[in-house]
Amino acid sequence: MAHKTELTGPDFASGIAMSDLSADTPLLGHAHGKAVVLIRQGAEVRALGATCSHYGGPLAKGLVVGATVRCPWHHACFDLRTGEALGAPALDPIACYELQRRGDRVIVGSRQSLAQENPPPKSPASVVIVGAGAAGAAATERLRRLGYRGPITLIGEEAPGPVDRPNLSKDYLAGSAPEEWVSLRTPEFYEQMDVELRIGDAAAELDPARKTLGLKSGAALSYDALLLATGAEPLRLSLEGATLPHVFTLRTLADARSIIAAAKTARRAVIIGSSFIGLETAASLRTRGLDVDVVSRDALPLERVLGAQLGQFVQQLHEEHGVRFHVSTTPRAIRANAVELDDGGVLAADLIVLGVGVRPRVGLAESAGLTVADGIVVDSQFRTSAPGIWAAGDVARYPEPRLRTAVRIEHWVVAERQGQAAARDMVGLGAPFRDVPFFWSRHYDVRLAYVGHATAQDVIELTGSLPDRDATVVYRRAGKVLAVVTVGRDQQSLAIEAALEREDEPALEALLRA
Ligand SMILES: Cc1cc2nc3c(=O)[nH]c(=O)nc-3n(C[C@H](O)[C@H](O)[C@H](O)COP(=O)(O)OP(=O)(O)OC[C@H]3O[C@@H](n4cnc5c(N)ncnc54)[C@H](O)[C@@H]3O)c2cc1C
Ligand code: FES
Repeated sequence: MAHKTELTGPDFASGIAMSDLSADTPLLGHAHGKAVVLIRQGAEVRALGATCSHYGGPLAKGLVVGATVRCPWHHACFDLRTGEALGAPALDPIACYELQRRGDRVIVGSRQSLAQENPPPKSPASVVIVGAGAAGAAATERLRRLGYRGPITLIGEEAPGPVDRPNLSKDYLAGSAPEEWVSLRTPEFYEQMDVELRIGDAAAELDPARKTLGLKSGAALSYDALLLATGAEPLRLSLEGATLPHVFTLRTLADARSIIAAAKTARRAVIIGSSFIGLETAASLRTRGLDVDVVSRDALPLERVLGAQLGQFVQQLHEEHGVRFHVSTTPRAIRANAVELDDGGVLAADLIVLGVGVRPRVGLAESAGLTVADGIVVDSQFRTSAPGIWAAGDVARYPEPRLRTAVRIEHWVVAERQGQAAARDMVGLGAPFRDVPFFWSRHYDVRLAYVGHATAQDVIELTGSLPDRDATVVYRRAGKVLAVVTVGRDQQSLAIEAALEREDEPALEALLRA
């Protein structure tokens, strides 16, 4: 998962001429045994570590946007001046180096330490975060990075604490990533940050008027600021046999462990639902050598989200790897060693995974009287209808500025960034959230990068070649670009994201024509 950038290009410690640096274009080299990128902006030059702190993406192939550089793999965003990780999925800063000027030459010196933030404008007496997932974990860290020194309690029902959830259906499930890679942080990390981590307990009762929270264990907490980051839970089917022990859903590390344990003796897996998680699970179980059938109620997997051409491409990709599809049908019953389909088909199965979607975990918010409508309703700064309570991640319905409507989005990076935005707002540094939704999905050696958010597109345009893994798919409504998927075009994806962010339609159209 973590990649190291090889030392290549000029040795910046011995200096490089300014004239060798093109504006806003990262140049890869090295200094003091580390891979470094130099970025020139006018007369200013910045020297940063070349490897993204998320999964090691190559920042030399990233995009410079204003005072940031963005990673081509999953769009993390770093501050050019400090190396700070401003936008998830990277949570750690990258190295930032001192520079000396000698005439026309710049010389990379030693690594700068990240300056301690001044106390933020507001400091809640205490912060409690419910849900130690993507949004909750990112919010916790952002509060400390913003200089908040008050007490933080992070409550998580799910052991062992925050995990890299996208990995659970990919490398970890396939057996190519060890379990050490799955935890986002160690308990010691939280100890060092002076965060009280309460894992294995759950918030059970919320009283917004008294600002108190009752936990399942019987403990009671009071808060000044509260973040609800309770995420979503997998749907189960009300179907005969759906609760048999060989039927699984996949959300938590415990779920992934159970599927891996079952896969050790199983020979035939049936995946019910051709969702992203369902298909990634199919790929991982094929890697483990199981026979895999996918049952899809749609005629083409992912067609409703990605359109017919991309749906067909993804299906073919899985078929080339031996996955069998049973489309336009639904399961009728699950037996001890088979799945019976509505169309009369019977699929032998000793391991079944349901990938039929999720629902937001709104119970706590609902019983506390917060406004809920398929998600906890929040404003552009993730404030709920109750003062002192924010909500972020899969559970939050927020106003998407470009769509001019409220949406609930189920993506890793979006959840983390919403958590970060809520943290900023808690300490008086909030601003309306404008980040463009982004997600990725991986199927064997193909990574799809999706920017924007399209629910009801009327036109889908494909350019390039999907078989060559070099393509762009654009989703429009009434002519307006809502979202773009790229395959093998990471830099274009970053540039499109930046144009969507600025709502710069001429630039967007020019990028799509290029
Ligand atoms: C297997 C898998 C693969 C995925 N792959 C991708 C991908 O490739 N790309 C992508 O963009 N997205 C992916 N996603 C989606 C992404 O993981 C989610 O959008 C993201 O995790 C949402 O973050 P969250 O913080 O809202 O919720 P979560 O990460 O689910 O965290 C919520 C946490 O709150 C806890 N909780 C709930 N209620 C309580 C309570 N009352 N008290 C205490 N704790 C509570 C839950 O146990 C959970 O740990 C994937 C999801 C799964 C399951
Ligand atoms: S590797 Fe850089 S964002 Fe994932």
